Amino acid sequence: MSMYKLNDGRNIPNFGFGTYKLNGHAGVQSIVSAINNGYKMLDTAYNYENEGTVGKAIEESGVNRDELTITSKLPGRYYAHQDAITALQESLYRAHLDHFDLYLLHWPNPKRGMYVEAWQALIDAQKFGLVKSIGVCNFLPEHLDKLKAETGILPAINQIELHPYFNQAPMRKYDHDNGIVTMDWSPLGRASSVLKDPVLIELGKKYHKTVGQIIFRWEHQLDTIPIPKSASPVRQRENLDIFDFEISSDDMKKINDLTKPDGRTNDQDPAVYEEF
Ligand SMILES: NC(=O)c1ccc[n+]([C@@H]2O[C@H](COP(=O)([O-])OP(=O)(O)OC[C@H]3O[C@@H](n4cnc5c(N)ncnc54)[C@H](OP(=O)(O)O)[C@@H]3O)[C@@H](O)[C@H]2O)c1
Repeated sequence: MSMYKLNDGRNIPNFGFGTYKLNGHAGVQSIVSAINNGYKMLDTAYNYENEGTVGKAIEESGVNRDELTITSKLPGRYYAHQDAITALQESLYRAHLDHFDLYLLHWPNPKRGMYVEAWQALIDAQKFGLVKSIGVCNFLPEHLDKLKAETGILPAINQIELHPYFNQAPMRKYDHDNGIVTMDWSPLGRASSVLKDPVLIELGKKYHKTVGQIIFRWEHQLDTIPIPKSASPVRQRENLDIFDFEISSDDMKKINDLTKPDGRTNDQDPAVYEEF
């Protein structure tokens, strides 16, 4: 595992661990296992209701806090400036942390017209030292253009749905051209039909890797950061074991060609979908 340089000069790991649905005691055990299996970056959110679980797992892992990159996210119902700062403080109290390494706006919710105010709150929180790097999730080019026009500051990270059935080529190009690192949520498409795709099964046989490893290696070679969730220690190790082979450019193209215009797992188009 190596690091990506962000547009604010900081570095973050090129692979992470998703924690959605990992809650309570079982969640702590899964996350401790992930940390002990070598994951250096954990992705949580206010709305996952597991920031406490993540904080407990950090404490129980015995790993030095400074070796970990911890990400959380602000829910849309707290996009007014003071609400945003208070919610962030509450998240830190829940996690028993004094800062997050990365803090993201969870959805643009464009019809509400609040995301620029929330972004300004993140800029201020960064100045206060509550967060090291700031970014967004699910932002489209028009939303990012607006942040730039109104605050002069672009996010370090855009975390978006990305897997072989929805590879986000135009959004990745926009992010890349604007110095934003793309991070992939549901990088396995939530373990849906993509895992049974014949092209990916064939490539797994060719490279002596599992379908999951082919997908994560493809995402890595697209210069994006996958953050798969797995409760299973075996699959946690398997998912991280992608740094000893290279997919050829012909095979990269075969995977790129699997994308579908309607390939989103849950039809969550950020232009219209809202989450609070
Ligand atoms: N910003 C956003 O709006 C947003 C939205 C969604 C998700 N996220 C973040 O992204 C993370 C990852 O996304 P996700 O959890 O939706 O989906 P995902 O990581 O694509 O898929 C998770 C599912 O895949 C299974 N799995 C993991 N590794 C596997 C393997 N090697 N082979 C077969 N199955 C495997 C897991 O089961 P087991 O646990 O049993 O292994 C789980 O059911 C989330 O946890 C969350 O942190 C962010």
